[in-house]
Amino acid sequence: MSTSTPHPIPGADRSEADFEAYLRGLERKDLLRFITCGSVDDGKSSLIGRLLYESQLIYEDQLASLEADSRKVGTRGAEIDFALLVDGLAAEREQGITIDVAYRFFSTERRKFIVADTPGHEQYTRNMVTGASTADLAVILIDARKGVLTQTRRHSYIASLLGIRKVVLAVNKMDLVGYDQATFQAIVREYREFGARIGLTDIVAIPVSAVVGDNVIERSAATPWYSGPALLRQLEDVEIDSAGPARPFRMPVQWVNRPHQDFRGYAGQVASGTVRPGDRVRVLPSGRESTVQRVVSADGDLSQADAGQSVTLVLATEVDVSRGDVLCACDAPLEVASQFEATVVWMHEEPLLQGRQYLLKAGTRTVSATIAPVKYKVNVNTLDDVPAERLELNDIGVCELEFDRPIAFAPYAENRTLGGFILIDRLTNNTVGAGLLHFALRRSQNIHWQALDVDRNVRAAQKTQRGCVLWLTGLSGAGKSTIANLVDKRLVAAGRHTYVLDGDNVRHGLNKDLGFTAQDRVENIRRVAEVAKLMADAGLITLVSFISPFRSERRMARELMLPGEFLEVYVDTPLAVAEARDPKGLYRKARRGELSNFTGIDSPYEAPENAEIRIDTTRLSSEQAAELIVETLDRAGLLTPRVVATP
Ligand code: ADX
Repeated sequence: MSTSTPHPIPGADRSEADFEAYLRGLERKDLLRFITCGSVDDGKSSLIGRLLYESQLIYEDQLASLEADSRKVGTRGAEIDFALLVDGLAAEREQGITIDVAYRFFSTERRKFIVADTPGHEQYTRNMVTGASTADLAVILIDARKGVLTQTRRHSYIASLLGIRKVVLAVNKMDLVGYDQATFQAIVREYREFGARIGLTDIVAIPVSAVVGDNVIERSAATPWYSGPALLRQLEDVEIDSAGPARPFRMPVQWVNRPHQDFRGYAGQVASGTVRPGDRVRVLPSGRESTVQRVVSADGDLSQADAGQSVTLVLATEVDVSRGDVLCACDAPLEVASQFEATVVWMHEEPLLQGRQYLLKAGTRTVSATIAPVKYKVNVNTLDDVPAERLELNDIGVCELEFDRPIAFAPYAENRTLGGFILIDRLTNNTVGAGLLHFALRRSQNIHWQALDVDRNVRAAQKTQRGCVLWLTGLSGAGKSTIANLVDKRLVAAGRHTYVLDGDNVRHGLNKDLGFTAQDRVENIRRVAEVAKLMADAGLITLVSFISPFRSERRMARELMLPGEFLEVYVDTPLAVAEARDPKGLYRKARRGELSNFTGIDSPYEAPENAEIRIDTTRLSSEQAAELIVETLDRAGLLTPRVVATP
């Protein structure tokens, strides 16, 4: 209150009090988060525009009278608006999602709203996914002239998948069908039938015209046969499920708050349940236990924090907790696993490939995830499961995922934060998919690592060398195999223990089931990288000679090895030179169209960016190349034995 204002504006006290009451009212009002889905030209922008415009008027009307009395009002008004908007965005930011979804805030006398405005093009499914992951309700727009489209079904399916249960079906452009009741009813009937099959039963259908304004803010005289609410009224009145059924306490740790020696707290947002001082908690995945000593918030210590609140927890004992860990109720801990069945919505032009590794972000955790088999994808029109090996842009599929380490999780159906994830391409950092965890696969829990007494060091020492991988990559006909063969001969002559894994040879046995699609090449390299790792483990200097055209898989191979024990050799031969040599006549076949997916012709080769050794075969002979490689091995200390005690 401004009783201490030095130069009070006449009447300012009263209006400021009014204004504060108004702000308090706004704070108390509940918040509906909704998403609008529609195809391009369905009229989404006009609809949102109209909602914003009309509600803005209400908002500004209220402010206008206050403004006349107090100059402060404008800034305050702007301030609170901004804060609320930022509040809404924080959750998305924590999810690490950076997709262009415009979140707009507006408010009426009865409720606050955040609407996720997502572009409607087919390729923008990803925006829709992002918006839907935090929404309570979806406004599905349909063009009355076009009816229910594939896009409508896909968006509805995704909305349902992501946990939205309430739908407003806005049948738009009613003015263009002469406000025909039968047209409206037919669309609603078809949509309800579809909705029921995907768990959407709470549907309110409204005939609207976003452009003319029928049934958007107020009931329209043009549709006397319609007796339901206008859109805005429905949005104001729809019941929002609050926390849902009581769930046990879970909080992913966002960061460790350690401002000075005497304070150590774990900051995060309570994902479900409540927490109080004195509660026993378990830290996952480590499984250690402790007791909550304090629940600290920006406003000081709390006696309790509920789902949705951001707090810092201080524990009574010193336990190891880091970002990404999950604190949960001791008597109802989460499951911990590293293999899952999951639904994935693919959002990138380049397809999802089985066997490829992606970064996976689930809440505050980031792991490396491999797509094990894709089991099937869903035809959103018929809702049938279709067998599939890969997922293309906008496909929704079910697949198995394998993480590089275990995480604590809850099925998405139980907890959006702990069961939802996004997939990121490791090289481009693009968000390429989103999904939800169904359940952990048991098989990983029944397989344990067997410790052996004779380890890799002992095996290497026995051969007086170090196990390592020399990875030769380059076009077909670049000279990889010739060079590998020469290096091998030199090393063996010097008494070293080696082995050569050659693409053509391995494809005669272990990999004879694989062809040359991107998918098969990924699997080809995954297998040979695993074999190379075993061979290096056995103490062998392992030469791998594969085209290995993709950076992503070469990187995966590198990461399987210890630092310094993987050397990438780029056998750099320009396409024209390799084609002129054409040792196996394959380029000629490819040019004649008798061989498809040929590297360099109609299948890409991604040249290494930081190979340890680059060999320009237009300047060096194969002998010189072999010599250079052996020298580099020596300099890297890989030919020097390490003394290790035998067990
Ligand atoms: S990789 O791309 O999956 O790493 P890999 O090194 O195993 O390929 O096999 C490449 C060898 O297969 C080539 O040297 C060539 O002899 C033969 N080959 C047959 N078809 C193709 C093709 N479409 N593209 C590239 N190589 C092919």
